[in-house]
Parts: sequence; structure tokens; C-alpha cells
Amino acid sequence: MTRSFPKDFLWGVAASAFQTEGAVNKDGRGQSVWDVYAHTPGRTTNGETADIACDHYHRYPEDIGLMSGLGVGAYRLSTAWPRIFPEGSGQVNQRGLDFYDRVIDLLLHEGIEPWICLHHWDMPVAVEEKGGWRSRETPKIFADYAATIARHFGDRVKRFAPINEPNVIPWVAYNVGRHAPGKQSYEDSLKAIHALNLAHGYSVKAVRAEASDAQVGNIVSLGPVRPHYDDAAHEEARILGDCLWRRVTVDPLWLGTYPEPIAKEMEPLILGDDMADISQEMDFFGLNHYNPVFVGPNKNTTFGIAETAPPTGMGPLTDVNWVVDPQAFLEQIRDTSERYNKPTIYITENGASYPDALGPDRKVIDKDRIAYFEGYLNVLLDALEEGHDIRGYFAWSLMDNFEWGRGFSKRFGLVYVDYPTLQRIPKASYHWLSDVIRKNAL
Ligand code: NOJ
Repeated sequence: MTRSFPKDFLWGVAASAFQTEGAVNKDGRGQSVWDVYAHTPGRTTNGETADIACDHYHRYPEDIGLMSGLGVGAYRLSTAWPRIFPEGSGQVNQRGLDFYDRVIDLLLHEGIEPWICLHHWDMPVAVEEKGGWRSRETPKIFADYAATIARHFGDRVKRFAPINEPNVIPWVAYNVGRHAPGKQSYEDSLKAIHALNLAHGYSVKAVRAEASDAQVGNIVSLGPVRPHYDDAAHEEARILGDCLWRRVTVDPLWLGTYPEPIAKEMEPLILGDDMADISQEMDFFGLNHYNPVFVGPNKNTTFGIAETAPPTGMGPLTDVNWVVDPQAFLEQIRDTSERYNKPTIYITENGASYPDALGPDRKVIDKDRIAYFEGYLNVLLDALEEGHDIRGYFAWSLMDNFEWGRGFSKRFGLVYVDYPTLQRIPKASYHWLSDVIRKNAL
């Protein structure tokens, strides 16, 4: 049976600056915390860095050609803060703006709408040195950067989101220490939560002031949080995990409050009009979803809980050990709709990593990824039938890229990147999705 998507449904692909661009020393770009982190021995798989990555900085015309071939109507990219402000603030680097001008103008020429995310984790080192997300000064500097981007691109770009997955930053970068800047501190995690929320609020205001017809939303990675074992200690871990993972960088934005289990701890950090500043009106809710998250007690982390591997027998796993569970996607969409008063939702990321192999005929037949997309898109249709206001879907990602601490060892692309030659090879999933997009149906 053919199942159609709504007439104006927006199809897109998503990617980020640091994961794809490379050219880290080109045209006046400053250093980011991720350059430093990736160059620190022992931090990434095989010590890989994103110095070259996919070389999208130079090959963007070919990549935009691949987007056209796929048939998408939108591309979610991020601007690299250290390209625009090499020192984090102060002097604007015109050559950084020029690069995104070239990308955006070509996208528009191809009929692809650019969606800009202002921060996908590549904070300028100069900002980190002044306190990074531990400091209340950073949200103000970030708002200036946001204003600069909106002022310059707002004539052509109409959708903005401040920070990609602010929930991941305190949890993974400040608590577990597995992302840049690699800290492990309870106090710093709390400070980061609040600073990220303030940065969101201030930058929404800044974007609106510079681009009054732009739509602005948040982008967050959410999935149901489940206890690893069914016992009291794990249930306790689940409650705290749910709060830290799903709520602390979303409730303040959409509800104006911190969730109960952490509200007391956050109180000393809240000054003056902070909560009003944070809870700006928004035009859309950008939902990234991959998998349900399993947690359990863990004395080695600053919060006393940690993400665990999925319990055995949970069903198929992707190459990064995430459970394939489309029903969890439905559960998450329902939760988002109900808790945040039926926002307009865009699925701003969804996809899967599999160990793709380049065949002797130089083809990549990624049947598992096709099955993943098929399962999740079917559930998206179920969610639409239930009446949730979902307007679009961005696949993660156009092409294989630098998967953070995992380097290039994990592939999420619809297009295979042969890293030694940087050749792009569309996988079977690219052709499959292209067909879905053209028919606007499964
Ligand atoms: C979410 C992040 O936004 C993106 O950078 C990452 O590559 C994907 N998830 C896959 O892990």
C-alpha cells in the first residue's frame, strides 16, 4: 500500500560545519575546541582529526549537486563560529562570511532552502578560554555572533536555530568528558545547562531583531529514556536521566521552568529575568531522533548515573550500538507534542550508522540503512495520522563525515565518502530516498 506524505512536506538533509568542511586553517578561520580535542592523543578513534574531513569547504558545489540529485527542498547546515569570529568576538572575518555566501547562493540557485544552525559544537578556543559554557558571558558573545549571521544572511535565509542539541553538551562534554572540551564536573555541567539556555534565548532575540521575517526554533536530540534493569536503583537513574537528557534544555525554553528533579540545583544560577529571557516564543521545534537511551546508576560520573549499552535482546543495533526501535520515535513525538503544547515539529535529524562496504563495482548496497529509514518514515506517517504537526524531515546525513569522538570509523551518509580520494559515491539508500522524495510517498 502506498502511503503519502502531506503535500507541502519538506524533505531535507542535515550536516554540520566541523564534521564536513575541513580547511581548518583556510581563509582566516580560528581554532575551535574540537580542533584541540581531536588533536589531543587518545581522544578520537585512531587519533583522527577533522582537518580535511570531507573537504566540503572546497567541494561544496559537488555536494550541492548531490542534494539536487536527491531532490531535497532544504539543507540544514551550520555556520562555523570560528570562521566568522576567529577570536570568538570582536573582528568579523569577511572571508568566513564569503564562504557561506557562496554556499547559500548556490543552494538558492538550486531551489534548496538553507536552514542555518548557529552552533554545532565548534566553539572558538578563545571563547572556551574565557570560560566557555561555564560562563554567563558566553551567551552574550554568542548573541553578537547570532546577530552578525542573521544581519548578513537574513535576506536569503529564513530559518534559524541557535544551538544543535544543547542537551548533549552538558551531558557528554561537561559530565562524561567524551566531547570537547572534555570536562568532568558536576558544577560545570549545571553552569553549562543554564548558559546554553541563556545563549538560546538571547540569540533568538538577536536573530529576530535582525531578520524579522525569519522563523526561529530549537534543535534537540530526544529519545525515551529507559532503565537498563527493572529495579528501584535503575528507576531512580531513569528519572534523573530523563530530566538531564530530555528536559533541562527544553522545558526552560518551552515552559519557562526547570524540571523538578534538578530545579533546586539550578536555583542559585538563575538571576533576574533569566527565565523570561530563555523562554522566547518559537516558530518550530526541531527534533533530532535516533534511538531510545538506556541509563543506570554509575558512581564514576558526576551525576551518579550514566548511559549504558542497550540491554541484551533489545532488537537490532546500528553500528554505534543504538537500538533500532521506530516505536520509540512515535513515543518521542507524542511526548514532544503533548508536553510542549503541540508545537510545529520538524524532524531535524534521523538516520543510522552501518559498516558500509565499497563493492568491487564501487557500489554500496546499504540495505540496513534503507530498512531503518523505511521503519522510521512509516512511524512518521503514523504520527501524522495521529494529528501531530510534523512539517518536514531531514535525513542525517547527506554524506559520511567526522563522527566526533568516533572519527571516520562510523558512517551515517546517504553518500559514501572514500576518504583517501574524497570521492563521493551515492549509496543504495540515496537512490531509495530520492525515490521516496520524488513520489512524496512510501
Ligand atoms: C547528532 C549530531 O547533531 C550529529 O552531529 C551527529 O553526527 C549525529 N547525531 C550522529 O551521531
